[in-house]
Amino acid sequence: MLTCQKSLFDLGEGVAYLNCATLSPLSRRVVAAGQEGIQRKVRPWSIKPTDFFEPCDRLRATFARLIAAEDLLEVALLPSVSYGLAQVAANMPAMKGKNKIVLLEGQFPSNVYCWHRLARTRQWECVQVAPPLTGSQRAAAWNEALLDAIDERTALVAMGPVHWTDGTCFDLEAVKQRVHRHGAVWVLDATQFVGAHPFSVTDLGPDAVVAAGYKFLMGPYGIAFGWYGPRIQQGMPIEENWANRMHSDDFARLINYQAHYRPGAQRFNVGEQANFITVPMMQAALDQVLEWGPARIQAYCRQLVHPYLDRLRAMGVEIAPQAWHIFGLHLPSHVPPQVLKEGLEALQVVVSVRGDAVRVSPNVYNTPEDMERLVEALDHALQDVRQTTH
Ligand SMILES: Cc1ncc(COP(=O)(O)O)c(C=O)c1O
Repeated sequence: MLTCQKSLFDLGEGVAYLNCATLSPLSRRVVAAGQEGIQRKVRPWSIKPTDFFEPCDRLRATFARLIAAEDLLEVALLPSVSYGLAQVAANMPAMKGKNKIVLLEGQFPSNVYCWHRLARTRQWECVQVAPPLTGSQRAAAWNEALLDAIDERTALVAMGPVHWTDGTCFDLEAVKQRVHRHGAVWVLDATQFVGAHPFSVTDLGPDAVVAAGYKFLMGPYGIAFGWYGPRIQQGMPIEENWANRMHSDDFARLINYQAHYRPGAQRFNVGEQANFITVPMMQAALDQVLEWGPARIQAYCRQLVHPYLDRLRAMGVEIAPQAWHIFGLHLPSHVPPQVLKEGLEALQVVVSVRGDAVRVSPNVYNTPEDMERLVEALDHALQDVRQTTH
């Protein structure tokens, strides 16, 4: 069992930061890696041609390990989730006889707009599956509605393992059966999942997985990862960067233009992928996440949150965590979430309002005191709302 890792961060005592789903803090180890990267650029002669490739290869290999991929060649370094999904949209197979894209209602916009565009271009229908029920049946009914929506007309299913607004978990095994039966392309935005929860592309067999690096992967802003399966991997990248071509490590011969890409998904690497500051930071962050282990991170979050469930429910807050690193508090109907959030912020408890849920997203640096402050602040805020509405 993991113990609290707060001493590895510089969080201070003033703030109860329960908002990793927006931005993780940087550990001291990650900050040190960034500072070292800056120093290298201060003396650029210390940066060798191999430094344009080897750190990126190592980072892609580390991410491959985190998601149990077979090979680092399946992984590309990206600047954002939207960039990684654009690679998929640009390389969607023809899908004869199919004309439907299935999304979940309220998905993160980077995992929506690209599919709207694809639907317009191909004249396909774009279906957003909503939860048909509220309350305790919501998650089960939503999962069922998602499975029902995937049929022989379905060309693409794009979703996340958990909903980014309130942590609703989707049954990936069941979706896998369904998409494989109908031959649909399956894309997972695992930003709110990978790092804090075990995840295996080898077990799931999707066509693409993308994840931003600055949340549960604990890295800097501006790096994301893409894993691309065989149906997408040989496609046409959305940009043509020199480093993605064969023999690009031979700087003296770069203008011997090459017709072929580096193998696997490397064609999808973003230009200037070898950022000398953020790549080492991301490497330090992933090394740390792997040392902790996603299963142990999940167990830590459970052990942190579980003791407080009864008190929260007694206050009229509906809460049913399915994943312990990201979950929603559904408030009594007379309480506007935004007002509550402002009340919490005044007491330096940092959470997010997403849709109609207050989203709480702890991690290994959080303490029972943070949870205690969340519960107390909620109690105060609910009392305030009650007084002003009477
Ligand atoms: C589920 C999800 N995907 C992606 C992102 C970030 O997308 P992008 O990297 O395109 O800015 C976020 C940010 O909150 C998110 O919650």
